[in-house]
Amino acid sequence: MSRPGWREHVDAARAQREATSRVRVRRTVALRDGARCLVEGRSLLNFCGNDYLGLSQHFAVVGALQDAASREGAGGVGSHLVCGHHQLHEALEREIADWLGTPRALLFGSGYLANLAVVQALLGDEDVCVQDRLNHASLIDAARLAGCRLRRYPHADAEGAIRQLRSMPEGVAMLATDGVFSMDGDIAPLRELALVARVQKALLYVDDAHGIGVVGPDGRGSVAANKLGVADVPLQLATLGKALGGYGAVVAGDADLIGHLTETARTYIYTTALPPAQAAASLAAVKLARADHWRRGKLDELIGRFRERAQRAGLELLDSQTPIQPVLCGDENTALALAAELEQSGYWVAAIRPPTVPEGRARLRVTLSALHGVADVDGLVEALAKARDRVRLGMLDTGPRQAAFAR
Ligand SMILES: Cc1ncc(COP(=O)(O)O)c(C=O)c1O
Repeated sequence: MSRPGWREHVDAARAQREATSRVRVRRTVALRDGARCLVEGRSLLNFCGNDYLGLSQHFAVVGALQDAASREGAGGVGSHLVCGHHQLHEALEREIADWLGTPRALLFGSGYLANLAVVQALLGDEDVCVQDRLNHASLIDAARLAGCRLRRYPHADAEGAIRQLRSMPEGVAMLATDGVFSMDGDIAPLRELALVARVQKALLYVDDAHGIGVVGPDGRGSVAANKLGVADVPLQLATLGKALGGYGAVVAGDADLIGHLTETARTYIYTTALPPAQAAASLAAVKLARADHWRRGKLDELIGRFRERAQRAGLELLDSQTPIQPVLCGDENTALALAAELEQSGYWVAAIRPPTVPEGRARLRVTLSALHGVADVDGLVEALAKARDRVRLGMLDTGPRQAAFAR
């Protein structure tokens, strides 16, 4: 028998990653203090996290976590349908449903699991899931695992979406899109997509992992920012690990659909509930996100300042008004060289390469937080421009790299 060995298989894949500068390595954070991190002995200003509102270390959030943990312990103890469902989970679901103006909400272990749940519970072999080409990997994986037909349309192209749906009139249909795109920072054309979904009798599902807390009235996300409600978007995803500074995710929407997910979604049923203390932390964070308008105001100011200064410095930005501000580099070795140079100057910015982004679209994914100050943003732009100039002058090594921190 000539079955290939699994070790050779892994070695070949690794060699391929090395040959194409796509080795991925982790960095270890020793200490986090606001926007500053101690990373392998060096203090860096973090411009690659998703703690947009600066809530992950807020005393009320950490206090709620500690308080609940001292009463309830560290674990989730069981799955929700057995004995793991706690009144703190229930309270968090109610708070988020109230915030987003939806009849119900359901808590999941993570956004990834929630996306798998929604697609698997609603679509089978005969059905179709139409998605934006730049959707998050978890939505793409969700459709693949559900076994439904997956069709993708060009980024933010509602005409493309309707063409795909028209070409497959059989089976139940879902139109799924990121609300705020995780690597580009732009917002999906949700009003047009809602119209497409209505005409094509498709369920519009919006993954608003990066919109919740940040965009829209009271931080209610991209669905509310587009003046849409549950009739247009029957299900939407809010993650708790980004602007809300915690961990987990909530799917909010139509009561019958949420009931269906509760009883049939495999990643809800066959997994341990989040620790109640984590739910308590998120509950405190949601209350802050709803009330602290100044955090969004500060973010908007930083976004405007970053864009204005970066454009003046001739850096190539994308059309994003959110805290995700990619700086295009084109080639991945340039992105890696720039990230390494920024680190030397004390700034932590992630280089994002294919396959996370399309070929030729490697970038630095700068993310802003209410924890940053204007001087931090000014310093970053200056360091970016200096690093770019050094690349242009051939002063930085932009050759293939064996290993680098990047996604
Ligand atoms: C658009 C989007 N959806 C879903 C997820 C997954 O969420 P989580 O990190 O909670 O698993 C992420 C990021 O991780 C994301 O960027």
